[in-house]
Amino acid sequence: MSEKIEILVLPGDGIGAEIVAVAEQVMIQVADREGLSLAVDHAMVGGGAIDAHGTPLPEETLEKARNARALLLGAVGGPKWDDLATLERPERGLLGLRSELELFANLRPALLFAPLATASSLKEELVTGLDILIVRELTGGIYFGEPRGVRIVDNERVGINSYVYKEHEIDRIARVAFELAQKRGGRLCSVDKANVLEVTQLWREVVTEVGRDYPDVELSHMYVDNAGMQLVRAPKQFDVLVTGNLFGDILSDVAAMLTGSLGMLPSASLAGDGRGLFEPVHGSAPDLAGRDLANPLATILSVAMMFRYSLDAPKGADAIETAVDRVLDAGYRTADIIVATEPELRLVGTREMGDLIAAELEAKP
Ligand code: IPM
Ligand code: MG
Repeated sequence: MSEKIEILVLPGDGIGAEIVAVAEQVMIQVADREGLSLAVDHAMVGGGAIDAHGTPLPEETLEKARNARALLLGAVGGPKWDDLATLERPERGLLGLRSELELFANLRPALLFAPLATASSLKEELVTGLDILIVRELTGGIYFGEPRGVRIVDNERVGINSYVYKEHEIDRIARVAFELAQKRGGRLCSVDKANVLEVTQLWREVVTEVGRDYPDVELSHMYVDNAGMQLVRAPKQFDVLVTGNLFGDILSDVAAMLTGSLGMLPSASLAGDGRGLFEPVHGSAPDLAGRDLANPLATILSVAMMFRYSLDAPKGADAIETAVDRVLDAGYRTADIIVATEPELRLVGTREMGDLIAAELEAKP
């Protein structure tokens, strides 16, 4: 077998452990099929790491993460840590990984699996065949801009965050988005608020300049408020969307709901050299934790993205996506995607859904 590929698994908090356990099993199964030899290690991040080590991103975790080709992450956060200061919260563990590993390109595909058309909050005809890709800048913008904080000015508290983008940050995310658009439908919509915010005027300028290198891609621009509206009005007009960190955070949750459930949306966060962190778009859902209720499909589909983008094994990715489609087509649903008016559907838990995917992968080599 070829050289071992280092994978770091970070279950995190809430439902993280359950969904990652199931997805890890699929990852190992598909790696075997593809003849890839993985060296899988585990580490702590988020609230659990705060409890055990006093920090959401322990040095040991960061060290292991730096050595890994790919990271599989569940989710971080929960009510237990809600009262901590912003820079001490579980979420900082995730943001720290993104920024330390320079995972600047966040790919969030919103793809409707045909059997789920009736689970969407939109009318079936609006979402049937939906296949859009949100490319979110992940290591800059208002999430990381300085100055930040809450301070006393003239005897009152003033909260400050800074929305900052440097030219090179816009340039590199734009290139990722144009290249993905070239491989898909050839259309890219850049989302900004250039009518109000100077930083996004620069965004629009740089994206337009980069676009000259991709004459085969049709570039358009849209204000973020309109983009939110268009996503729920006529989502199929989009192919690839590219936007900054905060707008991408919001629009990707909206896009997720179009596909039936937040429980279906995977993501890849990539560095320039193809290393990546793969995680579901949804959070840690503390109310569902430990109850075998959570939908593991977003995490399983994140493993598919790992095979496609970091492990250079697109066939493994296709196999996982096909297995998910078949299991849904056979009528199996977790609680978040079941439709009460369709009695033929079968409600399953987290583990059973994982077993069904594993069996499907076994059956159709
Ligand atoms: C996401 C999440 C994170 C973000 C949180 C958990 C910090 O909402 O990945 O979309 O805001 O980026
Ligand atoms: Mg989010």
